[in-house]
Amino acid sequence: MARYGLTQGSRVALLGVVAFIALAGLLYRRQVTRSVMALHFPPLYENIHEQEQQLPHYKEYESKDIKYFWAANHLYGLGWGNVMQDYVMMSLLAHATNRSFVFNDYTWNADGSWYSDFNGKLIPSRIPLSAIISGPVVGGELPPEDHTPRAVSKDFFQTICPNPTILQVSEINDDYLRYDETVSAAVIFDKWVQKLNSIDDPCVQLDANNGQIFDYWIYGQKKRLLPMWPDLSESPMIKRWSWSPLIHDAYESNLHLFHLYAPPPSSELLVLDETNDTTSKEDYSQPIPGLLALHVRRGDFEPHCRKLSSIKADWNAYNSFPEFLDHFTPPEDGDHLDLYMSHCYPSIAQIVAKVKKVRLESKEPLTHLYIMTNGAMAWVEELKTALSTDGEWNHISSSRDLKLTWEQKFVAQALDMFVAQRAQVLIGNGWSSLTSNVVMLRMVNGIPSDTNRFW
Ligand SMILES: *[C@@H]1O[C@H](CO)[C@@H](O)[C@H](O)[C@H]1NC(C)=O
Ligand SMILES: *[C@@H]1O[C@H](CO)[C@@H](O)[C@H](O)[C@H]1NC(C)=O
Repeated sequence: MARYGLTQGSRVALLGVVAFIALAGLLYRRQVTRSVMALHFPPLYENIHEQEQQLPHYKEYESKDIKYFWAANHLYGLGWGNVMQDYVMMSLLAHATNRSFVFNDYTWNADGSWYSDFNGKLIPSRIPLSAIISGPVVGGELPPEDHTPRAVSKDFFQTICPNPTILQVSEINDDYLRYDETVSAAVIFDKWVQKLNSIDDPCVQLDANNGQIFDYWIYGQKKRLLPMWPDLSESPMIKRWSWSPLIHDAYESNLHLFHLYAPPPSSELLVLDETNDTTSKEDYSQPIPGLLALHVRRGDFEPHCRKLSSIKADWNAYNSFPEFLDHFTPPEDGDHLDLYMSHCYPSIAQIVAKVKKVRLESKEPLTHLYIMTNGAMAWVEELKTALSTDGEWNHISSSRDLKLTWEQKFVAQALDMFVAQRAQVLIGNGWSSLTSNVVMLRMVNGIPSDTNRFW
């Protein structure tokens, strides 16, 4: 025994030590794994931010007489839908006054932090705008015959314009313009065009502490907002509005959710023909054939819909074009909670009935469904089952089925918007800014108005 150097007793002891080390190692690794998980902070999109600081026209603009307009009062800490509404109007204003539009990060928190807490989850405090969109609003090209200077980033503007003329929104927006329901957005817009055109300083900024030029309620007042339509729908800033390469990548890798015949990404069939891959590229200006997209807001929308009922809110203006098939007229008086809930927070039975009606009325055949929703997983499954029992859909998918990269996760709403914008038919929520922004883009792109439906 002694020749082997270990007694029976010490062998047991050694085994014990080894087992202990192994166990400790395992526990330690779990600890390490957990620390690594905790370090998995939201993305900061550094490369996209970097690109925004080096757009090809900057060099030329450094030595050229360019005028700029920087709406430093962009909304903070609000959903993308509201922020997008303001971006649309401010980029129109810059274009109408021949000034370079200045864009900023989509900002949740402007305190300089990297991350913010959102219902117990970490989110990026700022996302570079070109992680969400592309086109002239983030410095993309305008049509060749249009000589309006291209958009620049806030950082570039601040280098070129260290001492801009700072305007107060209240210099133009008096109570009459803001509150009087006979004053259209086009009137307010024209007053601002005149104001900006009267300023020689190339560097103009709205005071960062001011409210918006177009107060949020105007987007819910069709009589006031729709007079902007002729200008808005013809503006290259909006006609060329597009989604970011990051969003387009997310779309491509989830193609099988949106297209009838697209194979799932693991399939070999998706390998592109390397000799000529332009043939397999989809035309993004065309509708996705046969797709019916549903926008179904849940969760926080329940109390929101109750509130809309109590103030008898109208649908958003872009959801209220007279040529649409579905209309909503706010009731004059009395309690109409059921009416509001059926349009704003429809039950599964109400959704199934509306989907059936819309499918029957559609000029183009509708073959598959995509449900954009923030609803709980179990509820979404219940909805899918109800929809598939009622109609013979080729397939039904939802935003819950998306496979996204970490960078795509925090901008996924834009992917839903891109898909909804191109669906053959959309059923949206009349009070939702996501729906109304999508409907606005569908109308700008000339998609038939009878394909925009509402609960
Ligand atoms: C707009 O400004 C650019 C210079 O930034 C100029 O070349 C162009 O002619 C102007 N367009 C109009 C319509 O004034
Ligand atoms: C790819 O296909 C298109 C359309 O068939 C053709 O016009 C183009 O020249 C092709 N490109 C290459 C590199 O072969």
